[in-house]
Amino acid sequence: MKIWNLDPYIDVDPLENLHLKICQGIALSNRDLATRVIPHYEMQGNINLAIDFKNSDANRISAVADHTEDILNDEEKEIYRSLGYNQKRAFLELYKNDYTDGEYVRIRFTKKENLADTFSTFYSSTTEWTENTKYFSELLEWIYALPFIDIGRILIFVTKHYMHGDLHYDRRDEWLNGKHHFIWLNPFNQKKFSLYDGYTEIPITSKSAFFDTRYIHGSKIHNKSVYSIRIDGQLTEQFCKQANIPWTSR
Ligand SMILES: [Fe+2]
Repeated sequence: MKIWNLDPYIDVDPLENLHLKICQGIALSNRDLATRVIPHYEMQGNINLAIDFKNSDANRISAVADHTEDILNDEEKEIYRSLGYNQKRAFLELYKNDYTDGEYVRIRFTKKENLADTFSTFYSSTTEWTENTKYFSELLEWIYALPFIDIGRILIFVTKHYMHGDLHYDRRDEWLNGKHHFIWLNPFNQKKFSLYDGYTEIPITSKSAFFDTRYIHGSKIHNKSVYSIRIDGQLTEQFCKQANIPWTSR
């Protein structure tokens, strides 16, 4: 399986009623830019080239990481290193013509000392509440009623109007071993989001889903800003059995 439609098991309607509070929370939050160092094939309408690039060795420099330093000279590096997270991205947008495909709001995020652990987002022990948490009390109450044993990272992805959400895969390893899950939420079906199996597009049309992030995925262009929510963690064995999702004891 690549995509699990969770709508038969999760009632997303109450979340829709929280839209006002979620928008208020996003407006009040500190947001992080998601700047990508890549050729912008999606904007040119060439999805196949975008997929080829994502599967190439060069893809590793496309991650939002300090691999960026590989392409800077000493003078540029000195400036780059002196900047904060969002400042780095603003600099790269202008100076290296990178692009920002959106912003994200961290509600719960990886603790700094665990950044190198590629599974840290799936555990409460390696994640922590952020400054933004206080703006989402009603949303968190709803999230805590979801069938999770353990909750790690919680993110809201804001895709700006007329911008693609970068096509990418999250990982290439054996992550789908029953210990790591997430629920992806798309209230109102606002975000047009797809997985790609090879060059074949598989749109995710449900309001809640789990999917295999080893397949390239990303969102389309919209004529308005839209958000989606992702909650990492481990789902209950019972829920996984019901929804046919792999589950293994941690
Ligand atoms: Fe992803």
